[in-house]
Amino acid sequence: MSQDVQDIKTEALAAISRVDSLQSLDEQKISFLGKKGKLTVAQALMKTIPNEEKKAFGQLLNEARNAINSALEEKLSILQNEADAASVASIDLTLPAYPTPQATLHPLTIVKDEAIQILRRLGFSIADGPEIETEFHCFDALNTPLDHPARNEKDTFYFNSGKLLRTHTSSVQVRTMEKAVPPIRIIAPGSAYRRDEIDATHLSVFNQLEGLYVAEDVNLGDLKGTLEYFFQCLFGEDTEIRFRPHFFPFTEPSFEIDIMLHAKGQKPKWVEVAGCGMVDPAVFSAINKQRKDDLLNPEKVTGFAFGMGIDRLAMIKYGIRDIRLLIENDKRFLSQFA
Ligand code: DAH
Repeated sequence: MSQDVQDIKTEALAAISRVDSLQSLDEQKISFLGKKGKLTVAQALMKTIPNEEKKAFGQLLNEARNAINSALEEKLSILQNEADAASVASIDLTLPAYPTPQATLHPLTIVKDEAIQILRRLGFSIADGPEIETEFHCFDALNTPLDHPARNEKDTFYFNSGKLLRTHTSSVQVRTMEKAVPPIRIIAPGSAYRRDEIDATHLSVFNQLEGLYVAEDVNLGDLKGTLEYFFQCLFGEDTEIRFRPHFFPFTEPSFEIDIMLHAKGQKPKWVEVAGCGMVDPAVFSAINKQRKDDLLNPEKVTGFAFGMGIDRLAMIKYGIRDIRLLIENDKRFLSQFA
């Protein structure tokens, strides 16, 4: 009887070692360990064995079953490895891979991020405000009289409610000054809207970056130093910058800032890049009246403000001649900024 079990084991191991497919491995498994398999049948003889021999016979059976199981597992893993290797054998790993297209940042995003980085180094943090604004935040608080051309229906998108699409990010100055406690040092990047005819230099939706610094003793030197540093970081250390007197209702004195542009194949020329000035006391007064703490009393605080078009900065930085390229989503244009 014991000899039978030994023989079955030997036969099984020999059969398994000859197997060369997953299917015949399965067949061998069934023929030895299945319900009617040879070892299972031998096991059934246990009943007929004298009690004192049962233990030894049982051990023999277990050992045979374990040996057959291990041989089956080992063969299975060999066959699977062979199948895996065969399935990749026809792939030529030396062929060049398909290129993976990679997205790039939009030039406006690149310039905006760089501008923010520079100003953050100077201690400005980012502020925000709504694009649908009230006349108070967009104009009145900014000392802009009712008959100012910017308030004209021809220039500004008004809603029936009397609200409007902000014509500049300067409204964020007001939003900020309504709540913040001086010293205030913020920048506000965002969209602005005007009813402009669309052409190579105008879009009806464009992007601005506003800046505001309010504290006890801010002077024109602070304004000049800050903006000179800013434009030299953005356009290069030897960028020439000039401050040209101008008028804005919300600053006094006010300036436009020009930089000298050296474009390829063109004579160097001054181009306007920003407006700025010392916050007009009338602006502080208008907002201070809405506050209970008198912290924006023009007798107590001074400040400077500036605003610039991010689209314009990007066009200068990259030599883009037509602002419409910035919104056309032409991949041939956009992929140049990788
Ligand atoms: N808001 C002005 C514009 O859209 C730009 C500007 C000028 C902003 C002077 C300012 C400033 O903060 O002080 O044309």
